[in-house]
Amino acid sequence: MTIRIRAEIESDRDAIRHVNEQAFGGPAEATLVDAIRDGEFAEVSLVAEVSGAIVGHILLSRVIILSEGRAIEALSLAPMAVLPEHQRQGIGSLLVSEAIKVCRERGEQAILVLGHPDYYPRFGFSAKLAESIESPFGGGEAWMALELVPGALTGIRGRVEFSPPFNAL
Ligand SMILES: CC(C)(COP(=O)(O)OP(=O)(O)OC[C@H]1O[C@@H](n2cnc3c(N)ncnc32)[C@H](O)[C@@H]1OP(=O)(O)O)[C@@H](O)C(=O)NCCC(=O)NCCS
Repeated sequence: MTIRIRAEIESDRDAIRHVNEQAFGGPAEATLVDAIRDGEFAEVSLVAEVSGAIVGHILLSRVIILSEGRAIEALSLAPMAVLPEHQRQGIGSLLVSEAIKVCRERGEQAILVLGHPDYYPRFGFSAKLAESIESPFGGGEAWMALELVPGALTGIRGRVEFSPPFNAL
């Protein structure tokens, strides 16, 4: 099986919607993806293709960490999805790894994610690193951060602001 990870193009919209609806079992995340894209808040959007068909998607959008009078730009990884019949074949991992690589190449500072605590640490995400950053969606072990530039989050204490489509959740 050949898996190809590439940047989203305009004609992928419906397929990405389908992947999110199937993976999450409803339209909420697919609608969020469309709203983020339409609002021009998407920074990195990658798809996974198998035999020319889109089976996975990952999206990162801009967030601002407000920390003691400073505003630090970071990225939020959300949502990501793989079609149920293609899960547990390493496709999600390829999407996360490639997204991290693209973010690094762009010179991004850090990525935040609210997700499965057993999944994201394998890519270097850490709940400890995010514990001083308050999220409107709660946190605990599921709220994690990855520094792309070593020390980018050192001493950062504050709250994160998501783009408007997230506030509609
Ligand atoms: C999470 C998701 C994107 C992973 O994609 P994938 O292609 O199956 O991922 P991989 O094959 O690279 O890795 C599979 C790993 O994901 C882990 N995983 C998948 N769903 C999980 C969950 N709900 N809780 C914890 N771990 C989970 C599995 O434990 C597996 O770990 P293992 O390798 O130790 O067995 C996919 O399962 C999915 O679309 N789930 C539904 C939507 C979702 O929850 N998205 C993430 C939140 S934004």
